[in-house]
Order: sequence, then structure tokens, then C-alpha cells
Amino acid sequence: MNKTFHITTFGCQMNEHDSETMAGLLLEMGMTRLENRDDADIEIMNTCSVRENADKHFFGTLGQLKHRKEDNPEFLICVSGCMMQQQTVIDTLKAKYPWVDIVIGTHNIHMLPELIQKVSEEKSKLIEVWPDTDTIVEGLPAERLFKHKALVNITFGCNNFCTYCIVPYTRGREKSRTPKAIISEIENLAADGVREVMLLGQNVNSYKGLAEDGSEMNFASLIRRINDIPGIERIRFMTSHPKDLSDELIEAFVDCKKLCKNIHLPVQAGSDIVLKRMNRHYDRAHYLELVRKIRAAVPEITISTDIIVGFPGETEEDFEDTLSLVREVEYDSAFTFLYSIRKGTPAEKFEDQIPEETKHARFNRLVEAVNEISERKNKAYLGRVEEVLVEGTSKTDENTLTGRTDGFKLVNFPGDAALIGSIVKVEITDAKTFSLMGRIVE
Ligand code: 5AD
Ligand code: SF4
Repeated sequence: MNKTFHITTFGCQMNEHDSETMAGLLLEMGMTRLENRDDADIEIMNTCSVRENADKHFFGTLGQLKHRKEDNPEFLICVSGCMMQQQTVIDTLKAKYPWVDIVIGTHNIHMLPELIQKVSEEKSKLIEVWPDTDTIVEGLPAERLFKHKALVNITFGCNNFCTYCIVPYTRGREKSRTPKAIISEIENLAADGVREVMLLGQNVNSYKGLAEDGSEMNFASLIRRINDIPGIERIRFMTSHPKDLSDELIEAFVDCKKLCKNIHLPVQAGSDIVLKRMNRHYDRAHYLELVRKIRAAVPEITISTDIIVGFPGETEEDFEDTLSLVREVEYDSAFTFLYSIRKGTPAEKFEDQIPEETKHARFNRLVEAVNEISERKNKAYLGRVEEVLVEGTSKTDENTLTGRTDGFKLVNFPGDAALIGSIVKVEITDAKTFSLMGRIVE
């Protein structure tokens, strides 16, 4: 099909990867991808229901797209992603945004080509959202954002039902891909020049893949297996639920050379009362003990986290427990979120919601603490030589390269674009809160 498309992606890496898959499918149909939304024949909006204000932004953009549709009835608007798995969103779309052409869910993105074909031929509108399914559709293409690093799903969905979170309702129950499917995908990626894989799952620690001999493979064993794939030089993963982090995984960090020394370990809160109300199934002491064990085994490891501020019922004392945990762990970086209600989650019904001003005031205090620690931790890298996988050139200056250290720190340094895709040694010459600067030494 001789059409152009543009994809707008909201939210997490899972969505990022779904967009890569949708792009791969459309390129296989003979379409062309455009960077500029205004010129494309088809606009795909891949939505998120977790990030704050993502829905406002989404509906706002749909409003703007209405005018384009009026000017050009051939222009197609397709919406996908987590929001589409919520009935209230579908109802709103039908009632208020009837100019949307295609609605597709998270469990059936492989159907995108046929839906586009049908809508173009029949000039109809289509809503095709599957409820949760046990089926994993394998063998889909992906048009990667980066040539040398790739996102690889290992699990889909989540069984944890943290009380604030919408994901178990939008992405369904947890399902693991088979080791065979994952390994063959990574072998193909390696053959295609990929050097770094990021294994994705809402909780990779509970990966349970059915091996060919009928046995179950756990996450640590899967990593050991991927560690043996020639051509792959770096393995990362995200996200790791603290309640399921095993000693075996910590051992894998010690044994597997390719496993990057970095872990994203969302804590969400530092108070036991709040953790319980969040249904996280661990307490502060358990989390701190995990951090201690990880650091004892892998002293150079970098640790990042997610934290929610202003969960219903959070007292000043609870919040101070979060602050003190942050100071105790000394995270390399932290994603901080203002609690906001997700319709259909248990916490929606909690009565003691926190006033916005209180949430914002606590949020600012937390961000200040987090940033002060990040900057201090980054300064400790001054003068060190780090291995950096060169990912591209800086958006603002084509003579500046950008890449990540083994510990996932972003580094900018002068260099030639011919180095993109290689791992270079960089001496760190300056450190800021969110990035490092350096110069190539080899
Ligand atoms: N409000 C605020 N933050 C949330 N997150 C998930 N749901 C909510 C919510 N309702 C955060 C959690 C999670 C991250 C991806 O998003 O910290 O780890
Ligand atoms: Fe949401 Fe909790 Fe599952 Fe993460 S582990 S996706 S926060 S329910």
C-alpha cells in the first residue's frame, strides 16, 4: 500500500516497542514512515494510561486532528495502546471523537495492516480490541528506533495488582514467551548488528518460560542463556519487582559478563503502611536488605527506582520514611510520580486522598533530595574511564556523540558519527544531575 504514516508514542518502553512493531508491519505493507506528523496519510497514536496527563494530551491532539480529517477525508486516524483496553475510553471515543477511524487494542496489534486495508477500502470505522488472551503472537517484524540496541519482550501483562496501577487491567495477566522464541529473536537481532538488548516485562523477575524439554526456565537462567549469544555485548532488563528478585539473579550479575551492572528496582514508597496499602508484598526492611545484598555482590552497580508521592492516606511521617529511604539507598536516579487516580483500580475507592497542594509540596521536596543525590553520585565518576556504547549524535550538535555507560549513565562527548554502534572508552570530564560529559581516550 502506497501510503505514509507517522506514529506518536506515549508512555513506557513496552509501548515504545509496540510502536516499533506497528512500524515494522506497515513498512512490510510497502508504506513509508514519516518523521513529521503533518505530512502523513495515517496518524497512529499509541496511548498510555499510566503517565500523568497522558489522556489530556491524547484527547487534545485528537481534537486538533479533527480539522485535518475535515480538510482531507482520506487522512486516517488510528489509536492504540493501553487506553484502548479501557471501556470508558472506547465509550468516550464513540460519543465525542467519531472522526477516529481505527481503534486497536494491546493484544492484537498484529491486526493493524488488515484493519487499515479494510478501512481504506470500505471507508468504514473499525474498533477491534481483544480482551486478554493467552495467545502470544510471535514472529512480528519491528522497525527499531536504534540500530545497535533493541527492545525484546520476555513477558506480557502483570499479575501483581498494585492498588494504584491500571496495567493488570489493560495489559492482562502475565504471560511468558518461550525461551526458544526469545533466543531466536535475539540471535536474529545479533545477526542484524544489534549489540545491546533490553529485556522487557512488567516484572521480569517472575519470568517462567516453557522450555522445549517441558521444563520451566526462570529469569536468571534465561539471562545465562542470552549471555552465550555471540555478537550480543550488553544485556539489560526492566522492570524488576522487589518481591520476586532472587539470589540467583544476583549471582547472574556476578557471573554474566554481558549483564550490565544496573538495576531498576521500583520501591514506590518508604513506609511499610503505604507499601501494604499499595499491595506491594514487601516491606522497607526487605527492600533495604535486597539493596545491601546486590551491592555486596556487585559493588559498582547503579540503582534506579520509581516512587509515588501522595498515595491515599500518606501522612507526613510516611512521606518522611520515603525521603529517608531515598537518602539511605542513594539512588543513581529516580522517576518520581504524583499519585493520580486510575479509574477501575482499588485505590480509586480509597477515601483518604491527599490534597493536591500537599502532594506537590512533598513531590518538590522529594525531587530536590533525589537530584542532589544523583548529582553527587555522578560527580564521583569524574576522571573515571567508562565503556560507552555510542547510540547517536546529539540532537543539537552533530559533532557531539551520545551513549550509555554499562551502568546506564548518559554520556555526551565529542566524536565522529562513524563511531555509532561501537563501544568506546570515555574519560568522564564533567558531571551534571542527569548526564555526564567526557572525551574519548581510545
Ligand atoms: N499514579 C502515580 N504513579 C503511578 N505509577 C503507576 N500508576 C500510578 C498512579 N496511579 C507509576 C509507578 C510505576 C511507574 C511506571 O508509574 O511508580 O512504577
Ligand atoms: Fe503495575 Fe504493580 Fe504490575 Fe508494576 S507490578 S505493572 S506497578 S501492578
